[in-house]
Amino acid sequence: MIDITCIEDLRVLHEKRTPRMFYDYVDSGSWTESTYRDNEAAYRKLKLKQRVMVDMDNRSINTRMLGEQVSMPTALAPVGLTGMQWVNGEIQAAKAAEKFGVPFSLSTMSICSIEDVAAAASKPFWFQLYIMKDRAFIKKLILRAKSAGCSALILTADLQIMGQRHKDIRNGLSVPPQMTLGSVTNIAMHPMWCLRMLSAKRYQFGNVIGHATGAENLKTLAQWSAEQLDPTVNWEDVKWVKDIWQGPLVIKGIMCAEDALLAASAGAEAIVVSNHGGRQLDGAPATIDVLPEIVRAVKGKTEIWVDGGIRTGQDMFRAMALGADSTMIGRAYQHGLGAMGEAGVTRALELMAKEFDLTMAFCGLRDVHDVDERVIIQ
Ligand SMILES: Cc1cc2nc3c(=O)[nH]c(=O)nc-3n(C[C@H](O)[C@H](O)[C@H](O)COP(=O)(O)O)c2cc1C
Repeated sequence: MIDITCIEDLRVLHEKRTPRMFYDYVDSGSWTESTYRDNEAAYRKLKLKQRVMVDMDNRSINTRMLGEQVSMPTALAPVGLTGMQWVNGEIQAAKAAEKFGVPFSLSTMSICSIEDVAAAASKPFWFQLYIMKDRAFIKKLILRAKSAGCSALILTADLQIMGQRHKDIRNGLSVPPQMTLGSVTNIAMHPMWCLRMLSAKRYQFGNVIGHATGAENLKTLAQWSAEQLDPTVNWEDVKWVKDIWQGPLVIKGIMCAEDALLAASAGAEAIVVSNHGGRQLDGAPATIDVLPEIVRAVKGKTEIWVDGGIRTGQDMFRAMALGADSTMIGRAYQHGLGAMGEAGVTRALELMAKEFDLTMAFCGLRDVHDVDERVIIQ
């Protein structure tokens, strides 16, 4: 087997094995991509304090997210179109996550549906919700997640309008896809991907097609999707969602202390400090740079998770050091998935767990709960 030593190795394989339009969909941010790049770069600036001659035996990186035991402080973040990176990608990722002992989050805009994943998974997963204009459909979606046994609802708060990614426009990645000669040729140049895709459960948004009025098929889905983003969404809608859901609620997309306080008082059991992986407001700061002010504002009132730019277990460790209760990863596991399916996601998780564990030991600590700002050189 090819030596895979880090997430970057998986990224290279992902790029090689996946048609350009789907690879680019993952490896892109909005406008100039400065926030996308900053998310990663900001972690590199945080220097770690090495300790020596400390007993580093018997270490543990186990913790809890929403009361659920996790084998390391992370969860797979919701990512749309995961089923285009690898055949039935959502199911593959969910299986890898449950075997590894971390939560998997299914996007509203997934290819496999809630029911597809529930049928294949043996543990509850989390469902991510966008509030769209068609509230009757959204209500049904929440209830579908509930009856599929999802154990948390992640309400994504930062996509009531859409950031622009130049690569997706150039590649024709829209609904329906505007296939250019270049995209079709590029897909044909990935015969193994095409072959695998022949056994796909679906090729379009499984949670939507056939469930929303006006989105019965591919043709009408395009029109429906174009009209569904709802710029009016506000904190009042959270109450409505909570009443229907009546379970653990996570609010994702928080980037300042004011919104963190509002999310906590709206009853979020956890918040995700997130700029959508640099895909929405370009020019927003790196998430790790706003984490400390958010921690000061709401620590103890709600769980605080952070995502964006985490590519190593060391980055997770730095996030915990700055006060996060846990993290989420997006592209790091997508690269694993696009490289090798379920085995690639497992590999990504193994690599990051090992990096986290060794970093903790180098810093003289044995338990994830002891990680704090003292490991960062100020
Ligand atoms: C390709 C792609 C698709 C995404 N789709 C969704 C989505 O459907 N819902 C959502 O809440 N967040 C979505 N996100 C954001 C992720 O949940 C997460 O916030 C982000 O990936 C974290 O940054 P990272 O990829 O650098 O780890 C998406 C991110 C990527 C890269």
